[in-house]
Order: sequence, then structure tokens, then C-alpha cells
Amino acid sequence: MQAELSVIISEVKSASASISARADFEAFKASILGPKGRLTAVMKMMGQIPKEDKPAMGQLINQAKNAVQAEFEQVLARIEKTELAAKLGPNIDPSLPSPDAKVGSRHPISQVRDEIIQLFQRIGFSVAEATELETEHFCFDALNMPADHPARDMQDSYYLPQDLKVSNVKQHAEESYLLRTHTSTVQIRTLLQDKPPIRIIAPGRCFRRDTPDATHSANFHQIEGLYVDQSVSLLDLKATLDYFVKTLFGSKAKTRLRPSFFPFTEPSYEMDFYSPDLGKLSHQWIEIMGCGLVDPEVFRAVDMDPDQYNGFAFGMGIERIAMILQGVDDIRYYYQNDRRFLQQFATQG
Ligand code: PHE
Repeated sequence: MQAELSVIISEVKSASASISARADFEAFKASILGPKGRLTAVMKMMGQIPKEDKPAMGQLINQAKNAVQAEFEQVLARIEKTELAAKLGPNIDPSLPSPDAKVGSRHPISQVRDEIIQLFQRIGFSVAEATELETEHFCFDALNMPADHPARDMQDSYYLPQDLKVSNVKQHAEESYLLRTHTSTVQIRTLLQDKPPIRIIAPGRCFRRDTPDATHSANFHQIEGLYVDQSVSLLDLKATLDYFVKTLFGSKAKTRLRPSFFPFTEPSYEMDFYSPDLGKLSHQWIEIMGCGLVDPEVFRAVDMDPDQYNGFAFGMGIERIAMILQGVDDIRYYYQNDRRFLQQFATQG
């Protein structure tokens, strides 16, 4: 019996290595441990063994059974591993980019924003930014728009709940937080922080309660410009805007300043431009920005002496300019993330 047990163990060990299919494994296992298996047959022989030999024999059988089972477990683990690998298919690295993924491109609004930033950087303007969430002080009061000014109306602005506190935007006394309605807030924040000469452009997102249609969106983008020094004149403003328009819309483009009103500029203008090279939009005056000389009240609001300093400011909607340059006739296309639309403006890199 003892000899038979060691034969079984060594046969199991040598056969195991060549078993790779589950069905072969089950059949082989049954031939050892099944009702008609060889180890089962040895166990059945226990009855004929003299009583005094039984404990020693029982122990040997148990050891053999454990050895055989341990071997089978290893074979089973190996079979399960190959079965799983077959199910999962070839090895892949999920951290690699998908071979089917199309490379993205900058959004058409970002493209126009960056083009405008770059052309102003070439003449010495640098980019300034501020928060999209603002206080009434920076959005209105400091820009000479008193409490009863219609631009502050609940209809036009997104106010935040009264009890909300935002740690990185300080409130002046009793006032509300709101989403900024224009980038002119950056004029005030820059004047408080920097010393003249100041030449900044401030691109950013703005919010107004508007019913969306082909030319209105509650969420849009502006670029603000501010130049403050000791002798800035309207001529500087006009020359800067001429350069802007010629660079963006072609060297034959012209500007026109039409008197207008903004509380934070005096005098104030709407700037129209005209270009013979604009396709359907050629040969007509198109309004694209508000501008003017910085109002003395704005300097007073930031404790600067209006007799010592002066400057010009302008502000424009990026979408409006993008629509002209890109021939888009509905502002809503820009926000729908429709690849058929976006792909038309895709650039390399
Ligand atoms: N902030 C103004 C607007 O949103 C635009 C503007 C900016 C006008 C700077 C004059 C000077 O309409």
C-alpha cells in the first residue's frame, strides 16, 4: 500500500505538468480521487488492514491525499489563469491614448481671444485677470455706477445669496456678490494693484441675464483694455484701435468713433470699423466695442489723483468678433460642443 501511495503521488506530479485543458484535468482528477479513483481504492483497502497498523496507515493516506490535492489546486489555478487570459484577449495598456481618438483643437473662441491677446502684447500690453465672481463695488460702484444704475438691476445680473461668504473676494460693507457683468472690474483691480504706466488687456468670461438668441448668450466673453499714464490722449486710443482693426480685419480696415455714454469713461465712444476685405460684411460700418478716456471718478474710487493721471479704456465681446471673422451667424453654435461645428475651425497644434 505504501508503495502504491508513492507511485500515485509521483504520477500525479509528473502528469500535472502536461495538463492544460479543464476537461483533461477533471478526468485525471476523477481517476485519482473519484469513486473509482486510485487513491479512493487505496482508502477502501483500510478495512482489511490489521487494527494496530491502522493509525500509521491512515496518516500515510492523509498525507498522500493532501499532496495530491495541493498539486491539483496548482493545476487548477494555472488553468483558470489561462482561461481568464483567453477571455481578456491580448495585453493592452489602458493608459495609452486610444488609436481611434481624434486630436482636439483649440475652441474657436479661444483662437480669437489668443489672436487678440497676441496683437496687443506686441504693442506692450500684458494680460491681467480677476475673479468671475465679484462684489457690487468692483462691478459697479468703483466704475461710477451708483446703486440706482439700471445695469445693476436684478434683471440683468446674477446675484448670489445674501448670506454667502467667499473668502478670496472681499466685500465692502453691505453689498452683494454677483457674477461679473463685464471685464471692466479688472480695470479697478489693476489700478489698485499696479503703478502707472499701466497697459493691460483682460480677457475673461462675463454673465448677464439674457434670453439666448442668435446674438445673445447669458454667458459670454469680453476683452478689456486699459492704458493709464500721465499724458494719454484720445489720439493714443484712436491709434491703438486703428492698429487693432488693421491687424485683425486687414490693412485697409478703418475705425470710426461715435459719441456714446459709459459711466466709467468720459468722453465715451462706440467704435465701428469698416473693411473692404470681409466678404459679405465688407463695405459697412460694424460696431464692435465701447471705449473712451478713463472717467476722473474711476481714479477717485481707487485713490488716484485725476489731475495727475489719465488714460483710455475699451471693452469688446470676443464672440462678436469671432462671429465676424469666422462667418458664424448664431452665437449659440459656440457653446453646443458639436464637433461638426468645431472641426471647421480646427487648427494643427
Ligand atoms: N464694459 C463695457 C460693456 O460691457 C464696455 C466698455 C469697456 C466701455 C471699457 C468703455 C470702456 O459694455
